[in-house]
Amino acid sequence: MDIKEVKIELGKDWSGYQDVLVSALNNKNAFVSKINKYLIDNAGKQLRPVLSLLAARACGQANELNYYCAAVAEMIHTATLLHDDVADNGDLRRGVPTVKAVFGQAASVLAGDYWLAKALDLLTACNPQILGCYTTAVQELAEGELIQMEKSELLDTTEDDYYTIIAKKTASLFIAATKSAVLAVEAPENYIKAIVDYSYELGVAFQIRDDIFDYTPSMDTGKAGGADIKERKITLPLLCAMKNSTQKEADGIRKMIAQIENTFTKGNETTDSEQQIIEQVNDFVQKYNGIASAQKMLEQHSRRAVEALSVLPDSKEKSRLVELAEFVGTRNR
Ligand code: IPE
Ligand code: IPE
Ligand code: MG
Ligand code: MG
Ligand code: MG
Repeated sequence: MDIKEVKIELGKDWSGYQDVLVSALNNKNAFVSKINKYLIDNAGKQLRPVLSLLAARACGQANELNYYCAAVAEMIHTATLLHDDVADNGDLRRGVPTVKAVFGQAASVLAGDYWLAKALDLLTACNPQILGCYTTAVQELAEGELIQMEKSELLDTTEDDYYTIIAKKTASLFIAATKSAVLAVEAPENYIKAIVDYSYELGVAFQIRDDIFDYTPSMDTGKAGGADIKERKITLPLLCAMKNSTQKEADGIRKMIAQIENTFTKGNETTDSEQQIIEQVNDFVQKYNGIASAQKMLEQHSRRAVEALSVLPDSKEKSRLVELAEFVGTRNR
């Protein structure tokens, strides 16, 4: 599917969202505008506002409040990426150098705070229930990132831990983007539940695909591959490979990863021996079909996302939500 086409179909609702976003970020200061412009010129897929507006239209009549919900979702998403690239030492995003790489770490953190605060500003015009969707998401996002940090120190990540982390750090904002939107159109309870269940499954599938990207550096994703193991993050492709191997081999792999310096507490250089470990982990994931097994699990979540929508009446927007569940599992960016 082509997301561009969906944006065209969204028509005046899409422009309404864009207008809110651009005017919210308007700032007289040259440095602040320079960073904002860099981020707007190098925008990403804007999947969260797409989902937000589609959910609103699948459950009712989109209104002005929906432009706010969609803009808030994209602004909070951008804020988390600005922070994430500092936490993960990310230098490439959307095919261009990150704000962290161009303007420095402090600017990236502060620009993230600025986008977050501007999102909160928009939320003051919304009702407390809508605000609550986003306070929950931001809290869960931060928690998810912190649990991920804790696990990268301990290296005892289980599949349950992995799902807890990705539900909090990724699915939470998918849920906020769509739940706020359907609250704004005053959808009935059973529609809200359907949309929340859909968004949870979609968010989980989306992050699994992202974690697969990290093991497929040949793909042109606009981001650097191989970063997760360097950061001691045990994600689903590796967990699946461990499950497909013997306990002894899996233990050996965890011991090897423990030899990589923890970049959260230490420096960032990759030594030759660390590079060797990263390559061995990659070989292990290949040998035990970690990527194919993770892809299978992802597809289960995409299917569940589609099933969750069954209570909604048929509409073009519902069909697009179904297609998006497919897209999330097959996307290359
Ligand atoms: C990246 O999200 C962060 C994750 C949750 C994996 P996107 O892939 O939606 O980022 P952009 O905004 O399109 O670049
Ligand atoms: C998702 O995780 C980031 C957030 C939810 C903030 P990643 O750290 O894997 O995202 P990318 O790969 O840098 O986009
Ligand atoms: Mg991260
Ligand atoms: Mg990252
Ligand atoms: Mg990633």
